[in-house]
Amino acid sequence: MIFAANFKTNHTRRSTELYIEALNKKLGAKKAEDKVYIFPPSTALDDYEGEFTIGTQNAYPAHNGAYTGEIGVEQLDEFGIKTILIGHSERREYMAETQEKVAKKFTFFQEQEFKIIYCIGEPLKIREKGFEAVMQYLIAQFEGIDLEYENMIVAYEPIWAIGTGRSATVEEISTTHRALKKVINNKPLLYGGSAKPANIKEITSIAGVDGVLVGSASLDAESFSQMILS
Ligand code: PGA
Repeated sequence: MIFAANFKTNHTRRSTELYIEALNKKLGAKKAEDKVYIFPPSTALDDYEGEFTIGTQNAYPAHNGAYTGEIGVEQLDEFGIKTILIGHSERREYMAETQEKVAKKFTFFQEQEFKIIYCIGEPLKIREKGFEAVMQYLIAQFEGIDLEYENMIVAYEPIWAIGTGRSATVEEISTTHRALKKVINNKPLLYGGSAKPANIKEITSIAGVDGVLVGSASLDAESFSQMILS
C-alpha cells in the first residue's frame, strides 16, 4: 500500500523535523512493501532521512527564472526531491489552475522524470448527477496527461470528501476505482478524502485501492503512523 501525507499549509520547518523524528520511531514496524510519501510545505523541504520519500506539494514548471513566489527544479534539486503532487483540487480551485496549466505542469515534470501523484476529483454537484456524470468529469481531468507515463500514481479525491470528515462510501470508492483503473491502464490508484485511522482498514481493503492520500489525519505523526501500521 501507498500512504501519502499532504500537510498543505500546515506545519513549520521545526514541527516537520519533530514529526519526522516521531514517525521514524514507528516506521521500523511497517511492511517492507508499503511506501510512505510526505509532502510538507515548501519552507520545510529538506533531505530528511528515513523510510519515506519527501515530495513537493507544488512547483513551477521551470528550472529557475523570474516566477515570483514560486519554486522550480533548481530549488528541489538542492534536497534531491523528485516527487510532486499535481492537479490537487485546492490548486485547481483556489489557485485557478486550469486543466491546460495542470497538463503543462505534468508534461514538464514528466520530462524531468519526477514521480507524479496526479490528483483528480469531482465536486458534489457532479456526484449528485450520478456515476456517468462523475466519470465524464474525471476523464476530462486526464486531458493533456500522458497516461502511459510509468512514473505516475493517480489519486482519486472526491472534493466533497476532502477535509469534511465525510469519506466516500465503500460502494462509491469501489465503483469509481474499478472504472478508473481501466482508464489509467492499471496504474497505482490512491483514494483521498477524509481517510483516517477509523476508516483506513475499510478503504485499503477495497479492490482497486492501492493506498491513500491523507490531509487532516496525516498532520499528527501518531495518527498517520497508526494508518500505516494498521
Ligand atoms: P483530507 O485531505 O484527508 O483532509 O480530506 C485529503 C487531501 O486533500 O489530499
